Amino acid sequence: MGLKCALDGPSGAGKSTIAKKIAQKLGFVYVDTGALYRSIGLYAVRNGAKTDSEEEILPLLKDISVELKYVDDVQRVFLNGEDVSDMIRTPEISMAASNVSAIPAVREFLLGLQRDIAEKNDIIMDGRDIGTVILPNAEVKVFLTATPEERARRRYDELVAKGQEVTYEDILKDINQRDYNDSNRKTAPLKKADDAVEIDTTKMSVDEVVDSIEELIDAAKRRDFKVIPAWRIRLYSILRVIAGAVFFLIFDIRYKGKENLPKSGSVILAGNHRTWFDPVLIAIRVKYISSYMAKAELFDVPVLRSIIKLVHGFPTRRNSADVSSLSRAEEFIRKGYNLTMFPEGTRSRDGKIGRARSGVAYIASKCGVPVYPVGISYKGHLCFRRKITVTFGEPISPEELKINNLTKTELRAAGERVMSRIAELVESNG
Ligand code: DC
Repeated sequence: MGLKCALDGPSGAGKSTIAKKIAQKLGFVYVDTGALYRSIGLYAVRNGAKTDSEEEILPLLKDISVELKYVDDVQRVFLNGEDVSDMIRTPEISMAASNVSAIPAVREFLLGLQRDIAEKNDIIMDGRDIGTVILPNAEVKVFLTATPEERARRRYDELVAKGQEVTYEDILKDINQRDYNDSNRKTAPLKKADDAVEIDTTKMSVDEVVDSIEELIDAAKRRDFKVIPAWRIRLYSILRVIAGAVFFLIFDIRYKGKENLPKSGSVILAGNHRTWFDPVLIAIRVKYISSYMAKAELFDVPVLRSIIKLVHGFPTRRNSADVSSLSRAEEFIRKGYNLTMFPEGTRSRDGKIGRARSGVAYIASKCGVPVYPVGISYKGHLCFRRKITVTFGEPISPEELKINNLTKTELRAAGERVMSRIAELVESNG
């Protein structure tokens, strides 16, 4: 289960623009629930039904299937298999959606679908009753407003830009009518949840609103994730001790740089990567609980998957900027966990140090946490009583990574800085 952000408010308050931006920035999935009501409105209009008549709409529901799919990360809505995403944005369908949304059976019909979508992933869901009915336990609830005149102006500009012929007066009339419908219907009326934060966007820029909501999400992450349950800490300690005993028995392990061991959680441990023993070699010596970034393929192996998950391992896809993996990493760090990762993204069979991917620098700078380099060395193949040297280096502060705008060049240079520090440690191991 991920973090849920419920974004409610009247038509034209800027919900979808804001939600899309936040989703893109934070790697959340954006769910536009209005599109679901609009699809039902469209179906009703196409079938010549009176959109405010429960008697006429009810029999249609059994013939409707609505689905949200993501094409190139953009949400598209499918009505009985047909992509209707663009057709549902006309003033006629807006009003039809508002009418059908007042019918309790329609709301009931869409309730399960909305909750199912919210079940997985970090999501930001916009609508009218998300914070009050659909996701009453959402960690972040925002109620966006703006004056009707400002909302009408925004909608007018948007429709004109799309080439639709509309007048400002008609739009304002529509907005007032829909506000009235949405707020006065009996079932799930548009209403601010008691625990929602209200943001009046009339005089705010899009970026200002996005920043305010991002702050709320950050605060929720800190609030929610601060406490690591005691049983998990205990289990982790027990597994560490067992792994330590087994490893010391099998190998001849030396640890160097004790003075550089992290003195708290929420740091990144970054090592060179030769075998799957590496995360264990680091874990044995670092007493603070860590999460582990592991290649996605490992999660296809049933027993291994469970073990990795038990020690807070999460998958990363190596051939793309894996946004959800990066946000998992951030989430763990904000929870107070360390993050153990191997910046090269893959094992080096011959022991040579490769180039870092951008992940390590990105996470360090996004979370403002230091990177602790770790050099792991041994000669030849790992076999019984093989001498292994593991050296912990001085931490690299986020300032040393010199990242200001998260550009590719900055991330690459910072990644190189981390890898060269790891290389120095490997060399010092002899
Ligand atoms: O957000 P929108 O303008 O696309 O929504 C279209 C209509 O659907 C709106 O008039 C109210 C209704 N709606 C609703 O009742 N509940 C939701 N969660 C989303 C939309």
